[in-house]
Amino acid sequence: MSDRTVVITGAGNGLGAEIARCAVEAGWIVGVLDRDIEAASRVAASLGDHAIALGADTTDEAQVEGALDVFAAGVGRPAPDGIVCNAGIVRFGPLLDLDASDWRAVVDVNLSGTFLSARAYARRVIGAEQPGAIVTVTSMNGVAAGPNAGAYGATKAGIARLTTQMALEWGPLGIRANAVAPGLIDAGMSEPIYADPEIRRLRSERVPVGRLGTGADVASVVLFLLSAEASYVNGTELLVDGGVTGSVISSLPRPLSVDSVGLGEQTPGSSRDR
Ligand SMILES: NC(=O)c1ccc[n+]([C@@H]2O[C@H](COP(=O)([O-])OP(=O)(O)OC[C@H]3O[C@@H](n4cnc5c(N)ncnc54)[C@H](O)[C@@H]3O)[C@@H](O)[C@H]2O)c1
Repeated sequence: MSDRTVVITGAGNGLGAEIARCAVEAGWIVGVLDRDIEAASRVAASLGDHAIALGADTTDEAQVEGALDVFAAGVGRPAPDGIVCNAGIVRFGPLLDLDASDWRAVVDVNLSGTFLSARAYARRVIGAEQPGAIVTVTSMNGVAAGPNAGAYGATKAGIARLTTQMALEWGPLGIRANAVAPGLIDAGMSEPIYADPEIRRLRSERVPVGRLGTGADVASVVLFLLSAEASYVNGTELLVDGGVTGSVISSLPRPLSVDSVGLGEQTPGSSRDR
């Protein structure tokens, strides 16, 4: 059993709660941070004495600082070994009709909340003169646009770039920063989507590995990026999507054989695969 410590934001429900559960199982002491303190307390209580509930809204820097103070007092160390910036929200709707307050709420929680919690963590780690690891949670929606995603995809793409910026600026100070981009995950905020069996079937069929992802699929990659095994991984975004984001061309029509297509333009050594 190790005594590595990690704070996970948005861990009162969904993916964050599952990452917390897997982290405790792997021997981590976990700070279960959520703006819904009752949810955080429920999750922490279910994980026994290896978890501490922390109430904080990640869009409020002072609240994040306060939560990190509580965790530090609880584990007896100034800074955790890692932070998972997982807290996120979505407000679906077509851009033409999207309410500006929905746009701002998503930008505030997803992008600003990730920045403020990661920076509060980084300052503490640098002050403690210890190494650190940040894992942000993006989405396949930050890599490819999806219908009615509103500000969601833009914030996730923003988090990915923010993660490379943190990797660049804080890598020399001993802090690695990487992103995990979940795909079609049967948990958390997507649960209402998969309550419809037809949507569930259609979406599962589109994933090259033939199934929806689980919270545990995401958690194992998060834990890898936090670990010493990933000590040379910095500034990357890892898709955990069963291959669905990269399979977009599969929806385009193409003849079964391409041997007869475009032969007139072939030059020696050129590819026939289009
Ligand atoms: N579930 C999916 O299908 C999926 C897919 C791709 C990416 N993601 C990402 O994974 C992360 C977790 O999503 P989820 O599905 O578990 O969502 P969820 O809604 O089930 O859980 C999110 C948790 O974050 C908390 N939270 C929201 N705003 C907060 C804030 N400002 N401060 C502190 N806590 C806050 C909520 O109270 C909630 O407990 C999000 O960043 C989401 O964008 C989820």
